[in-house]
Amino acid sequence: MKMIKLSDNLSLSAIVQGFWRLCSWEWTAKELADFMNQCIERGVTSFDTAEIYGGTLCEKQMGEAFAADQSIRGKIQLVSKTGISRREINGKNFGYYDTSYERVMRSCKESLQRLGTDYLDLYLIHREDPCLDPWETARALKDLKKEGLVKEVGVSNFDPFKFDALNKAMGGELVTNQIEWSPICFEHFNSGMMDYLTANRVHPMIWSPLAGGRLFKSGDERCEKAMKKIREIAERHGEEPETIIYAWLMYHPVGAVPISGSNKLARLDLAVKALEVKLEHYEWYEIYAASGQQVLR
Ligand SMILES: NC(=O)c1ccc[n+]([C@@H]2O[C@H](COP(=O)([O-])OP(=O)(O)OC[C@H]3O[C@@H](n4cnc5c(N)ncnc54)[C@H](OP(=O)(O)O)[C@@H]3O)[C@@H](O)[C@H]2O)c1
Repeated sequence: MKMIKLSDNLSLSAIVQGFWRLCSWEWTAKELADFMNQCIERGVTSFDTAEIYGGTLCEKQMGEAFAADQSIRGKIQLVSKTGISRREINGKNFGYYDTSYERVMRSCKESLQRLGTDYLDLYLIHREDPCLDPWETARALKDLKKEGLVKEVGVSNFDPFKFDALNKAMGGELVTNQIEWSPICFEHFNSGMMDYLTANRVHPMIWSPLAGGRLFKSGDERCEKAMKKIREIAERHGEEPETIIYAWLMYHPVGAVPISGSNKLARLDLAVKALEVKLEHYEWYEIYAASGQQVLR
């Protein structure tokens, strides 16, 4: 499997396996460990999770799988995230952000405990916090690195201004921005984030590459238009539409690292297959414009 170098200390497998949906899979620790081993066998050695997934249950279940098969942890690059908090207010669950020094330090140590590991390979600030103090958050991230609790740090869902602010405070040490991108989601093209990352040679991780499965459902005009074109291109190449979508994401010069969210190995294989597919240059633009959201002027 091709590895994508994020820094001198860290490379990720070109396709990452995501575990956001893990709690709905209802697997035993042994079943999860078996799935993880099958990912590793395919070269998909980077695993993505977050404190907030399943209300911390996702990290706990992953920790149980690492305990069930203790050989797994040493073979993978483990990514987790912090910064989203929840609180009961007037009987209602209120979600907000907390990227303060104390919270980030405590949150990381709690994640390590749930995951049953001494360190994370990559630790991300999960969302843009409108109240972010870049100097304070950077102090926490630097201390976590210094203490050896995380190898590298980055962010997720940041716009270019917030990325720049935190990266300045970090002395340029942020190694990725994990962002949403699919044939129906272009937020980070429109914000200038893709240009920023490409210019600064920062590889983004891509979440919901298949739009969380929505591309395959009927009823959304943008999805239907995009899929009509993607199916046409898939036929040209003798591949499945999923493979073409992953090939499209990885074609861009930014060097994106897609995160597959399916629990089906056959679907992971379709993502891995994309590493062998070479799109024609014009085909990239066909998909870019297919949903009708992006206009080529
Ligand atoms: N940083 C962030 O804010 C953030 C946000 C969201 C996600 N993430 C990360 O990104 C990862 C991937 O996100 P995602 O799960 O949304 O990715 P995705 O791969 O776009 O979507 C996965 C979903 O699509 C379904 N699916 C895949 N192929 C399909 C097909 N051919 N027909 C019908 N359904 C299909 C899957 O169902 P099956 O399981 O049945 O195949 C699964 O429910 C997450 O696990 C998480 O690690 C990060």
